Amino acid sequence: MAVLVTGAAGFIGYHTARRLLDRAETVIGLDNLTPYYDVALKRARLAALAHPRFRFLELDLADPPIVLKAIGRDEIDRIVHLAAQPGVRYSIDHPFEYAHANLTGHLTMLELFRHLATPRHLVYASSSSVYGGNRKLPFATSDSADHPVSLYAATKKADELMSHAYAHLYQLPMTGLRFFTVYGPWGRPDMAVYSFTRDIYAGRPITLFNHGDMMRDFTYVDDIVAGVIAALDHPPAPGNDAPPCRLYNIGNNRAEPLPRLIEVLERATGRKANIRYAPMQPGDVKETCADIDDIRHDLGFQPTTPLDIGIPRFVEWFKSFHKDEVGT
Ligand SMILES: NC(=O)c1ccc[n+]([C@@H]2O[C@H](COP(=O)([O-])OP(=O)(O)OC[C@H]3O[C@@H](n4cnc5c(N)ncnc54)[C@H](O)[C@@H]3O)[C@@H](O)[C@H]2O)c1
Repeated sequence: MAVLVTGAAGFIGYHTARRLLDRAETVIGLDNLTPYYDVALKRARLAALAHPRFRFLELDLADPPIVLKAIGRDEIDRIVHLAAQPGVRYSIDHPFEYAHANLTGHLTMLELFRHLATPRHLVYASSSSVYGGNRKLPFATSDSADHPVSLYAATKKADELMSHAYAHLYQLPMTGLRFFTVYGPWGRPDMAVYSFTRDIYAGRPITLFNHGDMMRDFTYVDDIVAGVIAALDHPPAPGNDAPPCRLYNIGNNRAEPLPRLIEVLERATGRKANIRYAPMQPGDVKETCADIDDIRHDLGFQPTTPLDIGIPRFVEWFKSFHKDEVGT
């Protein structure tokens, strides 16, 4: 049976669908191509997914009757739900887009999953941002995630709670993955690695918030996808009392200072960055780092791509995709 990948035109969804096709799965991709960032990049990812075993549905996830009608009960048995309205800063000015995609959209996936003939496993994206201002590092799933500092984080935490309720009510196997700052080829133009690279090539200044005093657990996309697929292949079994749902951090387990990211980017591009410093932005957190002991223990997850390997790979992709911006 096929796997449904939501957000298939997005960054992580594209890579996940690609990996599933490579291992001979049939994949249905769903995405409504939101204009949050350049739609041409989303269309290019879809073009790169063209395959006889890939079918694309351009649909809004948060439209339950249409989604439930478009996908047959016997057509899929697993869902990798990655579609969402991402971005911490954007959620300050566009709150309802988050309620639409991340709350109604997530609930639609739960309903779709519940109505499948064989609901084998639903894997969905959560985020490190649920840890809010947590000061204990690295972040562990046993830490409190009840103090979000952005609406984006609040919607991701709500997704985890809704999933728990459905797993409990209907004994549906589900796994939530809290991603930590994913980067790599075909990445997201709104995120630091992509936008800094673009600014370096354009000779534009790069703004480092909190005066550069920030650390991120950058995770290479191939490592993330390996974790997503490992999770998909190991649905949680029902416990005696506990519902069949679980949550994992999925990161690199290594917090890197932003100035180090700039150094690696300068080396990979062969250009000097022009840095400006600015205060902390509302909704942002100073530092993230994932405790990945659980996913390592349960699923054998082991990230293998340090920044020094992953960034040059990203820059190579950037140069081939944005030839016009790179010059000679
Ligand atoms: N990239 C990261 O570092 C990161 C970190 C933490 C969590 N996440 C989560 O991982 C998931 C994938 O993120 P990404 O980086 O690939 O983002 P992305 O924006 O590239 O992909 C998300 C896709 O979802 C689609 N989408 C949005 N609203 C939709 C709707 N209503 N109906 C159908 N499709 C819709 C968008 O068009 C987009 O293509 C998201 O849930 C995101 O919140 C990502």
